[in-house]
Amino acid sequence: MMMRGAVLTILGLVWLAGAEILWEKHEERFRFCSWKCMKFVQMWPGSFCVALGPRFDCIIPESADSWTIHGLWPSNIMNCCSCWHLFPSDLMELPQQLARHWPTFLNTSSFTFWRAEWQKHGTCAGCTEALSSPSKYFGAALALRTMYNIDGAFQRAGIIPSCNHSYQLNTLREALVPVMGKEQELQCVTDRQARQVLVQLKVSLFSNFSAGCLEEGTQDFSPYRPCRNQTRVFYFPLNQKNPRDPCP
Ligand SMILES: *[C@@H]1O[C@H](CO)[C@@H](O)[C@H](O)[C@H]1NC(C)=O
Ligand SMILES: *[C@@H]1O[C@H](CO)[C@@H](O)[C@H](O)[C@H]1NC(C)=O
Ligand SMILES: *[C@@H]1O[C@H](CO)[C@@H](O)[C@H](O)[C@H]1NC(C)=O
Ligand SMILES: *[C@@H]1O[C@H](CO)[C@@H](O)[C@H](O)[C@H]1NC(C)=O
Repeated sequence: MMMRGAVLTILGLVWLAGAEILWEKHEERFRFCSWKCMKFVQMWPGSFCVALGPRFDCIIPESADSWTIHGLWPSNIMNCCSCWHLFPSDLMELPQQLARHWPTFLNTSSFTFWRAEWQKHGTCAGCTEALSSPSKYFGAALALRTMYNIDGAFQRAGIIPSCNHSYQLNTLREALVPVMGKEQELQCVTDRQARQVLVQLKVSLFSNFSAGCLEEGTQDFSPYRPCRNQTRVFYFPLNQKNPRDPCP
């Protein structure tokens, strides 16, 4: 009788522990799914290395001849789950497209970059059904690159990379409005000659991928600064031979 009581108690505790884990998982899910907006971030290979610290090797592959993906970042949240590892086989159908449109410019494998992005941001995106697996997450980013096509928007407005011509910030902004609305965020770096150089562009999206999601107090961990409209903006051409100083 005592035996049976003990077994029942243990079973009960196991059940309770199980319920608690489920409940914690629910809480976690709730916390991680609290984001409303996400940033789709693209970078310009022509100026990525301009402000890169000397301890990093900088390599711009020949195939990177257009704006590339930096990441898809749910706002104000990071590193949601260290247990969800990314493996190359998770991206089975995508590596060629990813290698072309989401390359790394550091001397590491692209997979290392993708894994870091997945760990930091992708694991937080999974509470949206359209992003609920690595292949969906990376596939969505590729689709967003086509949808929010910076190369096309600039070309249509006659904005071309150049060492000897700079642009008003407003000219760049207006060129982007037809593609991504008014809420784009242009980021710049300053080169050795104190020129303001366009390097990265963010557009804030709702979880249904529409642009224009606004959120207060968004944290920004990026080393780049918003481009200032008092100074003209350079859009440097690609220079694979001298990526740190493309326009000497
Ligand atoms: C990349 O790293 C490898 C191994 O660490 C090194 O041999 C090579 O010189 C590096 N390439 C560049 C361009 O820095
Ligand atoms: C301006 O720079 C481009 C390359 O960015 C070059 O092809 C062109 O010849 C330059 N024009 C002048 C007037 O220097
Ligand atoms: C996307 O979601 C936002 C906010 O919920 C909504 O205003 C917008 O109409 C949606 N867009 C589409 C295309 O469904
Ligand atoms: C720069 O931005 C400020 C407000 O942010 C605006 O009042 C001003 O007209 C802008 N200047 C130019 C040259 O666009």
